[in-house]
This record gives sequence, structure tokens and C-alpha cells, in this order.
Amino acid sequence: MTHQVRAVVARGKGAPVSLETIVVPDPGPGEALVRVEACGVCHTDLHYREGGINDDFPFLLGHEAAGVVESVGEGVTDVAPGDFVILNWRAVCGNCRACLRGRPWYCFATHNAKQKMTLLDGTELAPALGIGAFAEKTLVAAGQCTKVDPAASAAAAGLLGCGVMAGIGAAINTGNVGRGDSVAVIGCGGVGAAAIAGASLAGAAKVIAVDIDDRKLETARRLGATHTVNSKESDAVEAIRELTGGHGADVVIEAVGRPETYQQAFYARDLAGTVVLVGVPTPEMKLELPLLDVFGRGGALKSSWYGDCLPSRDFPMLIDLYLQGRLDLDAFVTETIALDEVEKAFERMHHGDVLRSVVVL
Ligand code: APR
Ligand code: ZN
Ligand code: ZN
Repeated sequence: MTHQVRAVVARGKGAPVSLETIVVPDPGPGEALVRVEACGVCHTDLHYREGGINDDFPFLLGHEAAGVVESVGEGVTDVAPGDFVILNWRAVCGNCRACLRGRPWYCFATHNAKQKMTLLDGTELAPALGIGAFAEKTLVAAGQCTKVDPAASAAAAGLLGCGVMAGIGAAINTGNVGRGDSVAVIGCGGVGAAAIAGASLAGAAKVIAVDIDDRKLETARRLGATHTVNSKESDAVEAIRELTGGHGADVVIEAVGRPETYQQAFYARDLAGTVVLVGVPTPEMKLELPLLDVFGRGGALKSSWYGDCLPSRDFPMLIDLYLQGRLDLDAFVTETIALDEVEKAFERMHHGDVLRSVVVL
């Protein structure tokens, strides 16, 4: 059997997205059909539609999603129809060197659904990050589904599928922030704001938010920032040092993805501190640092991939914290929109007043 549903499709480079009817097959072995309840609009979706990822048009966009499993294919035991799930980009194999060494986020053999979703004329769709959830239903590998407490709002839960997990994970997994640490986060968009929430959850004593936009600094406070620095008005490195007794922060998280802000992060950390790069740079960006400073300051320079998360461990845990009122996921939802408003949400991304627009179905 197949299902005809409405979905947001990007047909060609830079062209506005369109709402179309697509065909979703019933799940085959190892697959799950998910009725999408909510899906956040992420920069990566816009990046796909601009052709910045690859040329495999048409794309089925949307990848920060939560929904309910409608049916599962042969051999699926971890999730069942009726389960409320958060989707992740790729199912891991559990068996490769990365998986066996406890770093499944670098798995060599990840997979998505094998069957293809198509347009009505049979043209195969490429689902963004293997998900494609700006759609009433989507087909994924069962391993892309993580069951969480259904009491959570779908709009909030879906955000854990990408940007918010990337930020929280940068703090709690990659940065390994501990009780009493001082943490600075440079760039407080969706990802940086989540890193602030993560640092706060981990028990950091000082959480310093740095941004060039006061509106972002306000949200940062709501999520647990104890100090804020507008780096248009004052020097970020000096301000962070001043706020940490002249030392610098134990962990500095860079959530912009630019050489200047990475350099600030490098110098704003304490000796033997940790820098975590979670902002994604472009291929031409280069960084020049005196090697003697790398040597002399010690510590760790890390990058964070998908928050170095383990969905089966981290998603249910973070949803529990959300339901207990200890993690304000609702603070990330600036607006909820309908499926036909994704293009408008892309336009709003440039205005800087949105953490996340979330499509609610
Ligand atoms: N110094 C400090 N903050 C800055 C600077 C700067 N020089 N330049 C931009 N910013 C701030 C912006 O004001 C904004 O609040 O960085 C934030 C970036 O946020 P978003 O554009 O909302 O991006 P976000 O979704 O948070 O992603 C940030 O992480 O995962 C990656 O690809 C993603 O590279 C991107 C980064
Ligand atoms: Zn994303
Ligand atoms: Zn693997």
C-alpha cells in the first residue's frame, strides 16, 4: 500500500518551496512510517533548497521532527505503532569501529529508509538529512525513531532532533561541563541558546552568553545565562576574562561558525580549558593561531557533531527534564506555523528574531 500526503518540496536551486502531494510507501523491513506532528525549520533546510548541500533535487525538506509511529516493517522491535518518537538523522549500525568504541555519532555505516518516497509522477525525492518531515507522513529507518514520553508537546520534542540537541550536547557531551564550571557561549541563536541550557543543566556556576544581538541575550537569560555580553559593545575575550576572575572560562562553546569567533573562544578559555566548536564553518574558512599559544595554553580543542549525542540515551532523558520543568524547550519555539508557511519562515530567518519556527500538523 502507499499513502498520498501533503509535503514541502524543494524542486530546484533557490526556487521557493512548494506544497505538493507525495507518495509514501508502507514500511519495508527495518523501516517505520511516522505520522508527523511537528517539525522545526532549520538553517540546513534552507541550505538544501539553495543547493548548498548537493544537487539531488527534488528534496523533501524538514528534519527536526516528532510524531507517532503509524506502522512498522518486518523485523522492527524497538518501536511499535502508537509510539511517540523523535526522529534522528540516521540509524547507526552498532557494529563498526566508531560504534564499538562508544562514538556512534561517527558511525561508518549509518542508514535511512531504503524505499523511496516519490512525487505523483514517480520522481524520487531526496529527504533532507534522511528524514523529510515537512510532510503529513514520512518513511524512515526504524533506528531513526526514539520513543519518548508522549506527555511532551510535539513542537518542543521535535527540536531535540537537530539544533537544540546539537547545542545541549555540545555542553553536556562534548564539553563535558561539570558542576561549578564557568562556561561561555559565543553566539546565542538556536544552537548557542541550547548550549546555555545544557551548561546550566550540567550545574555550571557561571554561564556567560555572548552575542551581537540584545534580543538573543534576553532569551539566553531565560535559558540559564548568568551573565551576558554584547560583543558589539565590548571585547568578548576581555569581558569573559573579567567575569571569571581574570582566568577565562573552563569551557567556551563557539556556536557561530566563523574564524573570528573561534579565535575569541580560543583566547577566552582558562589555561587547560576546553573549546568546543559547534557552529559549522564554510569550506573556505581558515584559522591562523600562533602555535606557541596552542602549546602554551594546553587543554582541548574539540568539535561537536550532532551534540555527540546518543539519541536512545539523550532524547528520553532531555524530554524527562523538560516535563519536570528543568529544561525550557518551549523557549525555543518562537512561532508555530502551518505546512504551507515554510517559505515565509525561511524569510524570517534573516531577521534574527526567530529561534525556531515550528510546523505543527
Ligand atoms: N559574535 C557573536 N555572535 C554572533 C556573531 C559574532 N561575531 N555573529 C553572529 N552572531 C550570532 C547571531 O546574532 C545569532 O544569534 O550568532 C547567532 C547565530 O544563530 P543562528 O543564525 O540562529 O544559527 P543557529 O541555528 O544557532 O546555528 C549556529 O551552529 O549548527 C550550527 O550550522 C549552524 O553554523 C550554525 C551555528
Ligand atoms: Zn537542522
Ligand atoms: Zn556503526
